[in-house]
Amino acid sequence: MTVQPDAPPSTAVIPVIHRHELIIIGGGLAGLRAAYEAVSSGINVAVISKVHPLRSHSVAAQGGINAALGNADTTTHDSWEAHAFDTVKGSDYLADQDAVATMCREAPAAVVELEHMGTVFSRDDAGHIAQRPFGGAGYPRTCYAADRTGHNLLHTLYQQVTVKGVTFYEEYFVTSLVTAGGACAGCTALCIQDGTIVGFLAKATLLATGGFGRIYERSTNALINTGDGLHLALEAAAPLKDMEFVQFHPTSLYGTNILITEGARGEGAVLLNKNGERFMKNYAPGAMELAPRDVVARAIETEIREGRGFPGGFVHLDLTSLGEPLINDRLPGIRQIAIDFAGIDPVTTPVPVQPAQHYSMGGIDVDVSGRTPLPGLFAAGECACVSVHGANRLGGNSLLDTLVFGKITAETIIGDLPDLDPGGASVIEKAVVEEGNRIISLFHRGSGDNMYQIRDTLKKTMMDHFGVYRDGPSMDAGLIEILSLRDRCQQAGVPLMQTPYNLPLVHFLEITGMVRIAETVARCAIARNESRGSHARKDYPLRDDDHFLHHSLLVPDGDGTLKVRTSPVSLGMFPVKERVY
Ligand code: FUM
Repeated sequence: MTVQPDAPPSTAVIPVIHRHELIIIGGGLAGLRAAYEAVSSGINVAVISKVHPLRSHSVAAQGGINAALGNADTTTHDSWEAHAFDTVKGSDYLADQDAVATMCREAPAAVVELEHMGTVFSRDDAGHIAQRPFGGAGYPRTCYAADRTGHNLLHTLYQQVTVKGVTFYEEYFVTSLVTAGGACAGCTALCIQDGTIVGFLAKATLLATGGFGRIYERSTNALINTGDGLHLALEAAAPLKDMEFVQFHPTSLYGTNILITEGARGEGAVLLNKNGERFMKNYAPGAMELAPRDVVARAIETEIREGRGFPGGFVHLDLTSLGEPLINDRLPGIRQIAIDFAGIDPVTTPVPVQPAQHYSMGGIDVDVSGRTPLPGLFAAGECACVSVHGANRLGGNSLLDTLVFGKITAETIIGDLPDLDPGGASVIEKAVVEEGNRIISLFHRGSGDNMYQIRDTLKKTMMDHFGVYRDGPSMDAGLIEILSLRDRCQQAGVPLMQTPYNLPLVHFLEITGMVRIAETVARCAIARNESRGSHARKDYPLRDDDHFLHHSLLVPDGDGTLKVRTSPVSLGMFPVKERVY
């Protein structure tokens, strides 16, 4: 049905319902890897994406993907166990160790598979896939395609799934998940191109929508990263996990916050404060610039707060000792970004950088097979929390997570499919009409509150109260602000526009979800009275394993209230220890 203020009465409309065995919401790496697996086994698969899949945020991943290939160091051998240890230590012991073992064991095969599909990885002198050092890693383990690794991987997978006949619904914004008989039966979606609401009936629904970084003012994320999948899950009463753990990448370009890859530090770039001091020696004397991200982000933030940053709030990332040939060969993307967006050539001049939100360790609660507690609903990639990243993700493990768990989740779905029955289309038809009427009612609110002001206030609130450093009173104040923004969303108006490409309507749907996701971050952060990984509290500076070595589980009550509960961490492979770098 068409959504416009003067649309015909809903009873006069016959909704369009698309039928597939599996629908995948999100066209990034996790979604496409899952699509590849499912379509290869003969399943009827559709990918629904609010943008063209090649504009998914995976395309922006720069530095690389971890796998213990051992190509860069043949004297002391890397192993999946060493990779697993680094990952668990990096997570501040909050990652589930069984899930980490699975990811690290599968990593070499995942990388080689993409190479065989056509990904053009950079090469070492022997012709093997090149590997560079990354933060928190005991070996040079990060495989890369210069500093455009995500771009290469995503184009490879898109080509593969297109050949295999996956159906794509591009520029569709999913507005709700539909449940029937206690299971997920599909979804409703706004076709952005023509302004109709349509339904999707499916035995299995996989959420692979990426992160929610855009709830923060400073983020390396694409503008599309608004947490839509997490919001859909929450509205369908599927729990979220570990939402307090938000990663700040240490080096985003000052001014725009575009990512300047950790690969730069992997290749030898150093961090300097305004006194020219290589300050990481005071924070992580062993690992220096290649300490994990939470450690380096806190170090930079501390330098800035204590007056050793440059005016405006940044430090320098100095690549000048690397030389032009190496930069052109391995870091051409960030050289161009620095030139285009800051007017600075890293070959000759240090790059101004500051921490910015980069990744969400938390997400939709799934088991190691990708199942959510809601039958028929699955999740993979950044929107999911397996959990392999715990309280802090290591660089290079995100691309790996998408490929490994995209594949595993598709395998789970293939196995579960015979037992999943979404029922008939009538439940979806009803949902389409209800969604259509809900959206039409938005147009009748009048001019209302300005949604873009709500969004901008939210971003600032998250930066100010839930940033690199946190404390109780500040977070309490932040939550109050978020709740008032939630109320303001109820009054916000959606401007009347032409029906095709009504982008303010899309923004309204995104912003409503962003405010709700922000509330989940706030509630989980307030409940965790300790510092662990990316969650650094000034009022509780120490890790407290006696009381907080558990996951946070955010469960919506029937009335929409969010309750923070806990669930155990899967331990066993590596003893829990103090984390020193
Ligand atoms: O710095 C980077 O290239 C980012 C990598 C990652 O987030 O894994």
